[in-house]
Amino acid sequence: MRYWLIISAVGLALTMDNAGANAGENAYVGSAACKECHQEQYDNFMAHSKKANSFSSIKKMEKKLTPEEYQECFECHTTGYGKPGGFISEKQTPQVKDAGCEVCHGPGSLHIESGDPEDIKLDMGLENCRTCHNQERVEDFDFKPLMYGGAH
Ligand code: HEC
Ligand code: HEC
Ligand code: HEC
Ligand code: HEC
Repeated sequence: MRYWLIISAVGLALTMDNAGANAGENAYVGSAACKECHQEQYDNFMAHSKKANSFSSIKKMEKKLTPEEYQECFECHTTGYGKPGGFISEKQTPQVKDAGCEVCHGPGSLHIESGDPEDIKLDMGLENCRTCHNQERVEDFDFKPLMYGGAH
Protein backbone atom coordinates (compact mmCIF):
# COMPACT_ATOMS: atom_id res chain seq x y z
CA MET A 1 0.00 0.00 0.00
CA ARG A 2 2.76 2.40 0.97
CA TYR A 3 4.73 1.58 -2.18
CA TRP A 4 1.65 2.06 -4.29
CA LEU A 5 1.19 5.52 -2.83
CA ILE A 6 4.79 6.47 -3.53
CA ILE A 7 4.58 5.21 -7.09
CA SER A 8 1.33 7.08 -7.72
CA ALA A 9 2.79 10.27 -6.29
CA VAL A 10 5.80 10.03 -8.61
CA GLY A 11 3.53 9.22 -11.53
CA LEU A 12 1.36 12.22 -10.78
CA ALA A 13 4.35 14.54 -10.46
CA LEU A 14 5.69 13.38 -13.83
CA THR A 15 2.32 13.75 -15.47
CA MET A 16 1.79 17.23 -14.12
CA ASP A 17 5.21 18.33 -15.25
CA ASN A 18 4.11 18.35 -18.87
CA ALA A 19 0.40 18.63 -18.28
CA GLY A 20 -0.71 15.13 -19.06
CA ALA A 21 1.57 14.23 -21.97
CA ASN A 22 3.55 11.00 -22.11
CA ALA A 23 7.19 10.91 -23.19
CA GLY A 24 7.63 10.89 -26.97
CA GLU A 25 4.03 11.95 -27.53
CA ASN A 26 3.35 15.15 -29.44
CA ALA A 27 1.80 17.62 -27.00
CA TYR A 28 0.68 21.24 -26.88
CA VAL A 29 3.25 23.65 -25.43
CA GLY A 30 1.85 27.17 -26.00
CA SER A 31 2.89 30.04 -28.30
CA ALA A 32 5.63 31.42 -26.02
CA ALA A 33 7.67 28.29 -26.77
CA CYS A 34 7.82 29.29 -30.47
CA LYS A 35 9.17 32.75 -29.84
CA GLU A 36 12.91 32.08 -29.69
CA CYS A 37 13.02 30.55 -33.17
CA HIS A 38 10.13 32.36 -34.90
CA GLN A 39 10.35 35.86 -33.46
CA GLU A 40 8.69 37.52 -36.46
CA GLN A 41 5.62 35.25 -36.57
CA TYR A 42 5.35 35.45 -32.82
CA ASP A 43 5.47 39.25 -32.67
CA ASN A 44 2.94 39.61 -35.50
CA PHE A 45 0.64 37.11 -33.91
CA MET A 46 0.75 38.69 -30.46
CA ALA A 47 0.27 42.19 -31.87
CA HIS A 48 -2.46 41.56 -34.44
CA SER A 49 -4.33 38.31 -33.90
CA LYS A 50 -7.48 38.26 -31.82
CA LYS A 51 -6.65 34.66 -31.00
CA ALA A 52 -3.79 35.89 -28.83
CA ASN A 53 -6.40 37.35 -26.45
CA SER A 54 -9.21 34.85 -26.93
CA PHE A 55 -9.29 33.80 -23.30
CA SER A 56 -10.20 37.30 -22.17
CA SER A 57 -13.22 37.19 -24.53
CA ILE A 58 -14.71 34.28 -22.60
CA LYS A 59 -13.50 35.35 -19.19
CA LYS A 60 -15.47 38.59 -19.53
CA MET A 61 -18.64 36.52 -19.88
CA GLU A 62 -17.94 33.89 -17.24
CA LYS A 63 -20.26 35.37 -14.61
CA LYS A 64 -23.23 35.24 -16.96
CA LEU A 65 -22.72 31.57 -17.79
CA THR A 66 -23.22 28.29 -15.96
CA PRO A 67 -19.97 26.35 -15.34
CA GLU A 68 -21.06 23.89 -18.08
CA GLU A 69 -21.66 26.67 -20.58
CA TYR A 70 -18.35 28.29 -19.69
CA GLN A 71 -16.56 24.99 -20.21
CA GLU A 72 -17.95 24.75 -23.75
CA CYS A 73 -16.08 27.91 -24.68
CA PHE A 74 -12.72 26.22 -24.00
CA GLU A 75 -13.05 24.06 -27.12
CA CYS A 76 -12.39 27.04 -29.40
CA HIS A 77 -11.06 29.87 -27.24
CA THR A 78 -8.11 27.95 -25.76
CA THR A 79 -5.39 25.65 -27.16
CA GLY A 80 -5.64 21.86 -27.12
CA TYR A 81 -8.51 21.55 -24.66
CA GLY A 82 -8.84 17.91 -23.60
CA LYS A 83 -5.71 16.85 -25.49
CA PRO A 84 -2.15 16.06 -24.27
CA GLY A 85 -0.47 19.22 -22.95
CA GLY A 86 -3.61 21.22 -23.73
CA PHE A 87 -5.77 23.56 -21.69
CA ILE A 88 -7.09 22.36 -18.34
CA SER A 89 -7.65 25.56 -16.37
CA GLU A 90 -6.29 29.08 -16.24
CA LYS A 91 -4.35 28.25 -13.08
CA GLN A 92 -2.89 24.90 -14.16
CA THR A 93 -2.12 25.70 -17.80
CA PRO A 94 -1.74 29.47 -18.31
CA GLN A 95 0.62 28.88 -21.27
CA VAL A 96 -2.22 27.48 -23.41
CA LYS A 97 -5.17 29.55 -22.18
CA ASP A 98 -5.46 31.54 -25.43
CA ALA A 99 -5.93 30.08 -28.90
CA GLY A 100 -2.29 30.01 -30.05
CA CYS A 101 -0.02 28.96 -32.92
CA GLU A 102 -0.86 25.34 -32.32
CA VAL A 103 -4.60 25.62 -33.04
CA CYS A 104 -3.52 25.82 -36.68
CA HIS A 105 -0.10 24.17 -36.70
CA GLY A 106 -0.97 21.35 -34.33
CA PRO A 107 0.89 20.30 -31.17
CA GLY A 108 4.51 21.49 -31.09
CA SER A 109 6.43 19.61 -28.38
CA LEU A 110 8.32 17.30 -30.76
CA HIS A 111 9.13 20.19 -33.12
CA ILE A 112 10.44 22.52 -30.41
CA GLU A 113 12.85 19.81 -29.32
CA SER A 114 14.04 18.81 -32.79
CA GLY A 115 13.64 22.07 -34.74
CA ASP A 116 12.75 19.71 -37.60
CA PRO A 117 10.10 21.16 -39.96
CA GLU A 118 8.85 17.60 -40.54
CA ASP A 119 7.56 17.57 -36.97
CA ILE A 120 5.08 20.41 -37.43
CA LYS A 121 2.11 20.94 -39.71
CA LEU A 122 2.46 23.54 -42.46
CA ASP A 123 -0.07 22.47 -45.07
CA MET A 124 -3.56 23.28 -44.01
CA GLY A 125 -6.95 23.86 -45.51
CA LEU A 126 -10.20 25.40 -44.37
CA GLU A 127 -11.09 22.09 -42.73
CA ASN A 128 -8.49 23.04 -40.10
CA CYS A 129 -10.38 26.24 -39.39
CA ARG A 130 -13.90 24.87 -39.40
CA THR A 131 -13.45 22.99 -36.16
CA CYS A 132 -13.88 26.45 -34.61
CA HIS A 133 -15.11 28.76 -37.37
CA ASN A 134 -18.30 26.90 -38.06
CA GLN A 135 -21.81 27.87 -39.01
CA GLU A 136 -23.50 26.48 -35.93
CA ARG A 137 -21.60 28.67 -33.52
CA VAL A 138 -20.02 31.52 -35.40
CA GLU A 139 -19.88 32.99 -38.85
CA ASP A 140 -18.36 30.61 -41.34
CA PHE A 141 -15.94 31.78 -43.98
CA ASP A 142 -14.83 30.15 -47.18
CA PHE A 143 -12.38 32.13 -49.17
CA LYS A 144 -8.66 31.51 -49.49
CA PRO A 145 -7.16 34.89 -48.53
CA LEU A 146 -8.38 34.26 -45.02
CA MET A 147 -6.00 31.34 -44.66
CA TYR A 148 -3.43 33.87 -43.51
CA GLY A 149 -5.99 35.96 -41.68
CA GLY A 150 -5.57 36.21 -37.97
CA ALA A 151 -2.21 34.47 -38.17
CA HIS A 152 1.02 36.35 -38.78
C1 HEC B 1 14.41 25.39 -31.44
C2 HEC B 1 13.90 26.23 -32.50
C3 HEC B 1 12.45 26.12 -32.87
C4 HEC B 1 11.35 26.27 -32.06
C5 HEC B 1 11.33 26.49 -30.54
C6 HEC B 1 10.20 26.23 -32.92
N1 HEC B 1 10.58 26.06 -34.22
FE1 HEC B 1 9.40 25.98 -35.86
N2 HEC B 1 11.01 25.70 -37.06
C7 HEC B 1 12.32 25.68 -36.64
C8 HEC B 1 13.20 25.49 -37.80
C9 HEC B 1 14.73 25.44 -37.76
C10 HEC B 1 12.36 25.38 -38.92
C11 HEC B 1 12.77 25.19 -40.39
C12 HEC B 1 13.27 26.48 -40.97
C13 HEC B 1 12.21 27.54 -41.02
O1 HEC B 1 11.19 27.35 -41.70
O2 HEC B 1 12.39 28.60 -40.37
C14 HEC B 1 10.98 25.53 -38.43
C15 HEC B 1 9.87 25.50 -39.23
C16 HEC B 1 8.56 25.69 -38.77
C17 HEC B 1 7.40 25.66 -39.63
C18 HEC B 1 7.39 25.39 -41.13
C19 HEC B 1 7.37 23.89 -41.33
C20 HEC B 1 7.63 23.46 -42.75
O3 HEC B 1 7.17 22.34 -43.10
O4 HEC B 1 8.33 24.19 -43.48
C21 HEC B 1 6.31 25.89 -38.83
C22 HEC B 1 4.86 25.95 -39.26
C23 HEC B 1 6.82 26.06 -37.47
N3 HEC B 1 8.19 25.92 -37.49
C24 HEC B 1 6.01 26.31 -36.38
C25 HEC B 1 6.47 26.37 -35.08
C26 HEC B 1 5.61 26.51 -33.94
C27 HEC B 1 4.10 26.61 -33.99
C28 HEC B 1 6.42 26.51 -32.83
C29 HEC B 1 6.00 26.57 -31.37
C30 HEC B 1 5.09 25.51 -30.94
C31 HEC B 1 7.79 26.38 -33.29
N4 HEC B 1 7.78 26.29 -34.66
C32 HEC B 1 8.90 26.36 -32.47
C33 HEC B 1 12.75 25.81 -35.36
C34 HEC B 1 11.95 25.98 -34.24
C1 HEC C 1 -9.19 26.24 -31.81
C2 HEC C 1 -10.13 27.08 -32.51
C3 HEC C 1 -9.69 27.84 -33.74
C4 HEC C 1 -9.13 27.34 -34.91
C5 HEC C 1 -8.75 25.90 -35.24
C6 HEC C 1 -9.00 28.46 -35.80
N1 HEC C 1 -9.45 29.60 -35.18
FE1 HEC C 1 -9.48 31.50 -35.98
N2 HEC C 1 -10.22 32.25 -34.21
C7 HEC C 1 -10.57 31.48 -33.12
C8 HEC C 1 -11.14 32.32 -32.10
C9 HEC C 1 -11.63 31.86 -30.73
C10 HEC C 1 -11.14 33.64 -32.60
C11 HEC C 1 -11.67 34.88 -31.92
C12 HEC C 1 -10.83 35.30 -30.76
C13 HEC C 1 -11.51 36.38 -29.96
O1 HEC C 1 -11.86 37.44 -30.53
O2 HEC C 1 -11.68 36.16 -28.76
C14 HEC C 1 -10.57 33.55 -33.96
C15 HEC C 1 -10.37 34.63 -34.81
C16 HEC C 1 -10.01 34.53 -36.13
C17 HEC C 1 -10.04 35.61 -37.09
C18 HEC C 1 -10.51 37.03 -36.78
C19 HEC C 1 -9.48 38.09 -37.04
C20 HEC C 1 -8.29 38.11 -36.10
O3 HEC C 1 -7.52 39.07 -36.17
O4 HEC C 1 -8.03 37.22 -35.28
C21 HEC C 1 -9.64 35.08 -38.30
C22 HEC C 1 -9.52 35.78 -39.65
C23 HEC C 1 -9.31 33.67 -38.08
N3 HEC C 1 -9.55 33.37 -36.76
C24 HEC C 1 -8.83 32.82 -39.04
C25 HEC C 1 -8.58 31.46 -38.87
C26 HEC C 1 -8.10 30.56 -39.91
C27 HEC C 1 -7.81 30.98 -41.34
C28 HEC C 1 -8.00 29.32 -39.35
C29 HEC C 1 -7.55 28.02 -39.99
C30 HEC C 1 -6.28 28.05 -40.70
C31 HEC C 1 -8.42 29.44 -37.96
N4 HEC C 1 -8.75 30.74 -37.72
C32 HEC C 1 -8.47 28.38 -37.07
C33 HEC C 1 -10.43 30.12 -32.98
C34 HEC C 1 -9.88 29.27 -33.92
C1 HEC D 1 -17.17 26.39 -32.06
C2 HEC D 1 -16.14 27.30 -31.59
C3 HEC D 1 -16.50 28.35 -30.58
C4 HEC D 1 -17.12 28.18 -29.37
C5 HEC D 1 -17.61 26.87 -28.75
C6 HEC D 1 -17.18 29.48 -28.76
N1 HEC D 1 -16.63 30.42 -29.57
FE1 HEC D 1 -16.52 32.43 -29.25
N2 HEC D 1 -15.72 32.69 -31.08
C7 HEC D 1 -15.34 31.68 -31.93
C8 HEC D 1 -14.77 32.25 -33.13
C9 HEC D 1 -14.23 31.46 -34.31
C10 HEC D 1 -14.83 33.65 -32.98
C11 HEC D 1 -14.35 34.70 -33.97
C12 HEC D 1 -15.41 35.00 -34.96
C13 HEC D 1 -14.91 35.92 -36.06
O1 HEC D 1 -14.20 36.90 -35.76
O2 HEC D 1 -15.24 35.64 -37.22
C14 HEC D 1 -15.43 33.90 -31.67
C15 HEC D 1 -15.68 35.16 -31.14
C16 HEC D 1 -16.14 35.38 -29.85
C17 HEC D 1 -16.31 36.70 -29.25
C18 HEC D 1 -16.09 38.01 -29.96
C19 HEC D 1 -14.76 38.60 -29.62
C20 HEC D 1 -14.63 39.99 -30.26
O3 HEC D 1 -14.63 40.95 -29.51
O4 HEC D 1 -14.56 40.04 -31.50
C21 HEC D 1 -16.76 36.51 -27.96
C22 HEC D 1 -17.07 37.56 -26.90
C23 HEC D 1 -16.88 35.07 -27.78
N3 HEC D 1 -16.52 34.44 -28.94
C24 HEC D 1 -17.29 34.47 -26.60
C25 HEC D 1 -17.56 33.12 -26.48
C26 HEC D 1 -18.11 32.49 -25.27
C27 HEC D 1 -18.46 33.24 -23.99
C28 HEC D 1 -18.23 31.17 -25.53
C29 HEC D 1 -18.78 30.07 -24.63
C30 HEC D 1 -20.14 30.26 -24.18
C31 HEC D 1 -17.77 30.95 -26.90
N4 HEC D 1 -17.37 32.15 -27.42
C32 HEC D 1 -17.73 29.71 -27.52
C33 HEC D 1 -15.50 30.33 -31.73
C34 HEC D 1 -16.18 29.76 -30.69
C1 HEC E 1 -4.86 30.95 -38.08
C2 HEC E 1 -3.92 29.89 -38.28
C3 HEC E 1 -2.48 30.11 -37.90
C4 HEC E 1 -1.98 30.50 -36.69
C5 HEC E 1 -2.74 30.77 -35.42
C6 HEC E 1 -0.55 30.54 -36.82
N1 HEC E 1 -0.19 30.19 -38.09
FE1 HEC E 1 1.71 29.95 -38.81
N2 HEC E 1 0.96 29.61 -40.67
C7 HEC E 1 -0.37 29.55 -40.99
C8 HEC E 1 -0.51 29.37 -42.42
C9 HEC E 1 -1.82 29.26 -43.18
C10 HEC E 1 0.81 29.33 -42.95
C11 HEC E 1 1.22 29.16 -44.41
C12 HEC E 1 1.06 27.71 -44.81
C13 HEC E 1 1.51 27.45 -46.22
O1 HEC E 1 2.54 28.01 -46.62
O2 HEC E 1 0.82 26.69 -46.89
C14 HEC E 1 1.72 29.47 -41.82
C15 HEC E 1 3.11 29.44 -41.91
C16 HEC E 1 3.98 29.47 -40.81
C17 HEC E 1 5.43 29.30 -40.88
C18 HEC E 1 6.27 29.05 -42.14
C19 HEC E 1 6.91 30.34 -42.61
C20 HEC E 1 5.90 31.37 -42.99
O3 HEC E 1 5.84 32.42 -42.30
O4 HEC E 1 5.13 31.16 -43.96
C21 HEC E 1 5.91 29.43 -39.59
C22 HEC E 1 7.35 29.35 -39.13
C23 HEC E 1 4.75 29.67 -38.73
N3 HEC E 1 3.60 29.67 -39.50
C24 HEC E 1 4.82 29.83 -37.36
C25 HEC E 1 3.76 30.23 -36.57
C26 HEC E 1 3.89 30.65 -35.19
C27 HEC E 1 5.18 30.69 -34.41
C28 HEC E 1 2.63 30.98 -34.76
C29 HEC E 1 2.22 31.56 -33.44
C30 HEC E 1 2.97 32.70 -32.94
C31 HEC E 1 1.71 30.74 -35.86
N4 HEC E 1 2.44 30.30 -36.94
C32 HEC E 1 0.32 30.88 -35.81
C33 HEC E 1 -1.43 29.62 -40.12
C34 HEC E 1 -1.35 29.94 -38.79
